[in-house]
Parts: sequence; C-alpha cells; structure tokens
Amino acid sequence: MAPIDPHSYADATQPFATDVSLSLYFDFPSSTLHASALLSFPTPFAGTLVLDSRHLSVHAVTDPSSDSPLPFSLSSPHAALGSRLSISLANAASSVLVTYTTSPSSSALQWLSPPQTTLGKSPFVYTQCQAIHARAVFPCQDTPAARIRYSARLNIPAGLSAVMSARHLGRHPPFRGEAPGIPVWDDFVEERVVEEFVMDQPIPPYLFAFAVGELGSREVGPRTRVYAEDDAGLLKEAAREFAGAEGMIREGERLFGEYEWERFDLLVLPRSFPYGGMENPRMVFLTPTVIKGDGSGAQVVAHELAHSWTGNLITNKNNEHFWLNEGFTTYAERRIVEAVQGEEMAALNVGIGWRGLNQDIERFKDNPEFTKLKNNQEGIDPDDVYSQVPYEKGFQFLWRIEREVGRPAFDEFLKKYIATFKFKSIDTETFLEFLKANIPGIENQIDLVLWTEGVGIPADAHEPVSTIYTQIVSLANEFKSGRMPREDEVADWQGQQWELYLENLPKSVEASQVLALDARYKLATSKDYEVKVAFLQLAINSGCREYFIEVEKTLKDVGRMKYLRPLYTALVQGPGREEEKIFAKRVFSEAREGYHPIAQGVVESILSKHL
Ligand code: BES
Ligand code: ZN
Repeated sequence: MAPIDPHSYADATQPFATDVSLSLYFDFPSSTLHASALLSFPTPFAGTLVLDSRHLSVHAVTDPSSDSPLPFSLSSPHAALGSRLSISLANAASSVLVTYTTSPSSSALQWLSPPQTTLGKSPFVYTQCQAIHARAVFPCQDTPAARIRYSARLNIPAGLSAVMSARHLGRHPPFRGEAPGIPVWDDFVEERVVEEFVMDQPIPPYLFAFAVGELGSREVGPRTRVYAEDDAGLLKEAAREFAGAEGMIREGERLFGEYEWERFDLLVLPRSFPYGGMENPRMVFLTPTVIKGDGSGAQVVAHELAHSWTGNLITNKNNEHFWLNEGFTTYAERRIVEAVQGEEMAALNVGIGWRGLNQDIERFKDNPEFTKLKNNQEGIDPDDVYSQVPYEKGFQFLWRIEREVGRPAFDEFLKKYIATFKFKSIDTETFLEFLKANIPGIENQIDLVLWTEGVGIPADAHEPVSTIYTQIVSLANEFKSGRMPREDEVADWQGQQWELYLENLPKSVEASQVLALDARYKLATSKDYEVKVAFLQLAINSGCREYFIEVEKTLKDVGRMKYLRPLYTALVQGPGREEEKIFAKRVFSEAREGYHPIAQGVVESILSKHL
C-alpha cells in the first residue's frame, strides 16, 4: 500500500482509471441514484483493486470482458473518507463495472423538494464534489493526483433537464437494455428522458458535476450562457450581472494563455448552494447571492474563471497543497479584476482579503498547522479546515514574488508555469523547483521555506496601498473613537467598500453605536449579503439581540457557508451567551434540512465545539 493522498484509499502502485462511463437513474422520490460506473484502466491489473466510496450501496462488480462477477468488499465507513471498496481481480482486467445506489444523505448531493427551489414547482438536485465528495456519487480513485475523462447518461423525469461540466451530446427517450444492471431504467421509459454528456479533457474527480431541475438559459456571450431555474426575471438579471464574462475570458487568455475548455457557461443554483462559486469546468456553479445588480458578482466569476488555468489545468496533487489551487487563483482573479474594473477595485479586494487572512490566522491560533501554506492533513476532514489561509497567504506569497521580480518577468513566468504543467497534478516542491529554475537566485531574496512551511504571516507580506483603501480603514479607526462616517463620505460606496469598513471595525463595539450605524445606513437589511452578514456579526458580538430576527431570517434564507460560519460562530463562541446558544440551536434545527449536507456538517461541528 502506497498512499499518495491522506484523503484517499487509492494505492499509487495501482493503475489509475483514465476513463469512466456512468449511467445514472435519478430517483427523486427516494433521493437516490441507481447507477453503474464502468472504470477503464490504461494497463490491465490483477490483485486487489482499491477504490474510494462513501455512502454507496454496491450491488455487484463485474469484469465486463467476460461478464463474470468479481468478489468485492466495503470497509466500515470512516466519517470523512468513507469506505474502501476492494475488488479482487484474480485475472488481469482492464476495466470493472460497478452497479450501486447512492444514499439519500450522500455528502455530494443536495436533493431539493419543490418548495426548497426558487420556482417551487419541480424537484432539483446538484453535486458539490470538492474536496472529497466525488466518491459519494461514484466509486473512483478520488484523489486529484488522478485524472479522468468521462461520459455520462442521466436518466431523468421528462419534464426536467440536465446540465454537466461536460459537453452535451443530446437528449433521447430511454430504451430497454440501455443500462444493464439498472433494472428500473427499463420500467418507466415513457415518462423519462436520457441526457448524454462527454468530457474529453482529463479532470481530477472533484471537478465532476451535474445539476438536474427545471432549467432555462440565456445567452451572455459568444462562449457563455447562463443557466438557472427557468424564471425569465432571474435569467435576465443574471445575464446582466455577468455581461462582462467574455471580456474577462479574453483578459485571462492574455495573461495566462489559451482558454482550453471551449465553453464558459454559468449555472446559478438555488439559495442553499454552500459556496460562492465552484469552478466546474465548462460550467461554473454559482450562488444566487452573487447577483446584486451592480456587476460586483463579476469578482466571483473572475475567481472561478481563473481556476480554468490554476486549479483545473494545473491541479494540486492533494489537499495539503490546496494553496496551489486557491492562492494562484486569488492572484489571477485580482489581475483580471484589475484589468476590467481598475486598480482601486483590485486593491479593495486585496484589503478585504488581508483582513480575512488576519482573522483566520487568529482563528487557528491553537492549531497553527493550518496557518501554513503546505500543511499536514493526515486524519483531517478538509471541510473542517477550510479557511482564507490558502487563498490569501497564497496570494501574498505570489504578490511578494511579483514585487521582487517585477510584473513583466512574473507574467512571463506564470505563462510558462501554466504551459509546462497543464493537465498535471503537482505539489508545492514541484512549484518551488520550477520557480528556482526559472528565476535564478529567488531563494536568496525571499525565504521560500518560511513562506511555504512556516506558520503565521511573514513580515514581508503587505497591505495594499490605495486611496480608497486607506480612507476606508482610517474611517473605521475613527469609528472606534465614536465618529460615524458622514453621508458625503459614503455617497459612492458599494458593497465592497462597506464590507471593508465593517471588517476593519473592532470585533465588538457599544450596542448604541451598532444601532446608530444601522439607523443611518440600513446595513442589517442590505441586499448585499457580504454587508449584511458583516454587520450582523458585529451586532451579535456587540450583544445587540434586536437583530436576532434578521439573523434568523438570514440563516434560513441562504446556505452559503461563508455566511453560516461567521454567524453561527458569533452566536456560540465565548463564555456565557446562554441565550445566543439556545437561539443558535433552535435556528439550526429548523434550518438544517434546507442546508447542503456539507454545510450541515460544518455547522454541526461549530456547534459541537462550543455547546
Ligand atoms: N474551489 C472553491 C470552492 C471550494 C473550495 C469548494 C474548497 C469546496 C472545497 C471556489 O473556487 C472558491 O474559492 N469559491 C469562493 C469564491 C471567492 C473566493 C470569490 C467562495 O465560494 O466563496
Ligand atoms: Zn477558488
């Protein structure tokens, strides 16, 4: 056994499947998939093949070349990693067919009943496979060290449609015998339809994605459509918010090289989507909270777009090197934002990120391992240690290198880095070797080991320098001595300016100050969730129970973890706070069902740590 990834049972001495062919029957009433997965290997293998699985009931494994059954066993489930699926191959085989059913509590899938959707008429289901949830949809070597091409047939109710992070081949009525091993496939052919997809480019399993529901779409640009629940108003607003997509793709191409994925479609999910965005190739998944009507959703789109190069082309080998995905992408995102929205906007984002980094370094003060860029995740559930560190410390590291070598040289380096490692999975050492080889002497200028292996924030990290940034931070400092910003000072503030302002206030202030600020600027009811949540956090920390109603509404209205985490944490952290704790527990018990399983787990772990 040669582990290559602390989050996978996969054995590096065994061949990795390079092709996966899936047949998925969507059973909405039971919230399950009845499925088969055909895994093909580049070289025949004999012995005990090890795959990852989670919450799957495996019915049978066969060798498709002889149709003969293969003995298999599932280990007892580990809370985060799931079960090892061991398949005995007495004779060398180059493929295996697994038939199985997913669990209604699959950690990768959120099954929404009609009332939980925006339109309220049809059910909806979607995947979220990063970091280690692909194994809860199909058995696989679920490590980003592996790359797979795949094809998929999705058998769904005829009134719905499907999208995937893959090329759509077509839609046809199911026929009997189309999916051997899935008997139900043949039972309801009249009411069903099959949507077919293929992904020709090799991807790490965490980029596997689909969504099924009552979907519509609208054109945004030459290689971009926006998909969402079929509501004309929503689609129109989304198309307007993302109108700049093509300009950003072009900017990305100028900076990082050709866009390799052909399409850049966007899918706006129901409100329970647990992330801001997820970089599924060809089709980025987005929370509806990014549609604010002021074009600021562009920042999240820029980020997910940037992953098309950093993350999806060059992938971290395992989650211990996650900063290679997110740090590079945060850097790339800001370069795109700078090009399309200007330097001041980019500086504002750097400043918001700087606050977030400092807060998370503080959050991990008893667990400094997770303030390192490269860290040890043996026995760790990646969802539990998600933080701004890989994003913002990673960004700071790259920004530091840029300052050292100058922008033109760094741009040239980045292009070469991407061209060299595209469609590969790499680790921190590989990056550092490449850096030293291409920028000779860099290790004498920058302490590369301190940056990648040290805890905390190195002294040569930087706050941004910009007029708006400095002005907002000093206004926030003045609030501490009792001065509220004047109307004329905030007249042209949008969400990000307010966010930066609120993030720079002390953690708690006088309750009367909170009330006065809100009376003047209506922050608790802001339509911008970044602003609203930053304000509510301040209100909770300052002991203003007046805002519990708004907090409860927010926690029930959206499932984005970026909002759930700080609000639940503010409620339950610290001594005393009995009323807050009871409140948090009640709200969670009522809201839980509407959250994605990953978000449920994250909130549970916050509550269990403090209650
Ligand atoms: N890849 C991440 C989302 C993710 C990370 C999912 C880890 C699962 C595990 C995505 O690119 C991301 O970073 N999203 C951010 C957007 C932001 C930085 C603009 C988010 O969701 O907040
Ligand atoms: Zn990202």
